[in-house]
Amino acid sequence: MSCYLVAGGAGFIGSHLVKTLHRDGHRVVVLDNLTQGHAASVPTGVPLLKIDLADQASVDGVFSRYQFDAVFHFAALSLVGESMTDPLRYCRDNVANTLNLAQSAIKANCLRFVFSSTAALFLPPDDGSPISQDAEPCPQNAYGDSKWMIERALGWADKVHGLRTASLRYFNAAGCDVEGDLGEDHDPETHLIPLAIDAALGLRAPLYLFGTDYATRDRTAIRDYVHVDDLAAAHVAVLEKLDSKSCHYNLGTGTGSSVREVLSAVERVAGHPVPIVAERRRVGDPPVLVAESSAFTAATGWEPRMTRLDDIVATAWNWRRRHPGGYGPNARPLSAVG
Ligand code: UFG
Repeated sequence: MSCYLVAGGAGFIGSHLVKTLHRDGHRVVVLDNLTQGHAASVPTGVPLLKIDLADQASVDGVFSRYQFDAVFHFAALSLVGESMTDPLRYCRDNVANTLNLAQSAIKANCLRFVFSSTAALFLPPDDGSPISQDAEPCPQNAYGDSKWMIERALGWADKVHGLRTASLRYFNAAGCDVEGDLGEDHDPETHLIPLAIDAALGLRAPLYLFGTDYATRDRTAIRDYVHVDDLAAAHVAVLEKLDSKSCHYNLGTGTGSSVREVLSAVERVAGHPVPIVAERRRVGDPPVLVAESSAFTAATGWEPRMTRLDDIVATAWNWRRRHPGGYGPNARPLSAVG
């Protein structure tokens, strides 16, 4: 049994990893400021510490109470559009707060660190081909650049302090816990699949389809949707790689789906039409974003298990149908530190 700290463990992807680690019998501690996370997503028996990473003394306090074998770091702002109206907030909340967490980990001699990075690091190729493992990062927005700054800072922490980091560059995290306990509940929600499901359920107004003039097979944008449980499994798989050296990997399925293909999948799963309004392109959206992630498979043996779009959408549909208000008001008591 190992002991892990999951920062941002009450959020969408983090909560899926927490469930996996807890189920596998590990000791898990969640640190989350709950501005976006949901206490109700953390399993009973897992300490949930409401701490902001800006508060270095409190973060140090967590490391002095527990001996962690590794840190998983999900806590971040992640809205591309917002990052272009308030870029300094992204530097402060993403970059500075990650440096605090890394600093505390180094002080406590916890030298394995798994970091949630993003496909927003890349300038997608003009021809729409998959983004290779070796593509040079060239972020086009402050969100992507905040993650790139962090990757580089963590590189120095490795050279100087021996902090072994795995930066996992996610493409489009999608779907929900196959057992239906955990879901996607952002505020505001900006992601295609939950918005399309809500539109099909009549919980929201028609979906704006952003961009119907891309040079793609059906004129809508193409993304690589990877199931959130597969992302969680990737975090577990990468741990053993960290004993030797730091690494970074693209994490996707290698297959792209267009917005219209996603909407058709939602309609098949829901058995209802998704009402849409065609809109202009959303600023900053690349036409195609697909991962070349065979390097991660070669290194760890990981492969996405959920490869059919309908299956991915079905997990999201199941959760939302049972939780039309998301996680709702939150009654789970917080653990006191210690
Ligand atoms: N889309 C719509 N209507 C909507 C929402 C989305 O048409 O209401 C379209 C988008 O324009 C895009 C596709 O659906 O073409 C997927 O959009 P999402 O918002 O679900 O996801 P993104 O690809 O924009 O964002 C994801 C991650 C980000 C990351 C980004 C990298 O969620 O964190 O990929 O480019 F930064």
